[in-house]
Amino acid sequence: MVIDDALRARIESEMRSFPEPRGALLGALHRVQEELGCVSSEAARELSEIFAVFPVEVLELVRFYNFFSEEPRGRHQVTVCTNLPCALVGANDLLCGIEGHLGIAVGETTPDGRIHLGREECLGACANGPMMRIGGDYHEDLDLAAACAVLDALE
Ligand code: FES
Repeated sequence: MVIDDALRARIESEMRSFPEPRGALLGALHRVQEELGCVSSEAARELSEIFAVFPVEVLELVRFYNFFSEEPRGRHQVTVCTNLPCALVGANDLLCGIEGHLGIAVGETTPDGRIHLGREECLGACANGPMMRIGGDYHEDLDLAAACAVLDALE
């Protein structure tokens, strides 16, 4: 069992706040991703039992949203928005520079497990691109030097 009693109790508590318990499934996936570092096939199976849905219904959500992962990622989830407004102010060049700085490509994790790099859709900070998100923190108006300084400061 990968979802322990405390996490299960939290998920079940959130289920009770929805008229249809299934409405809490996305939130539960976030809890599992945060606490376990990924939504493994075992975690997805256990969630399907909690929510009384087919396992494939859980996996569909995990595979659709890029903030969920079936495999453990790095300690820091770093994503750069490359949608049009950010792309127009250099987001793709920034992302290439970050790949070079970290020595990894988009979708990869640094060998020390510190950083997982991803590309993201619009995060609503279009007026301040290029921008990157690290966990729940936004870093905006970036150039490569500023982005690398932020990344180098991560433990
Ligand atoms: Fe990048 Fe909106 S396009 S935050």
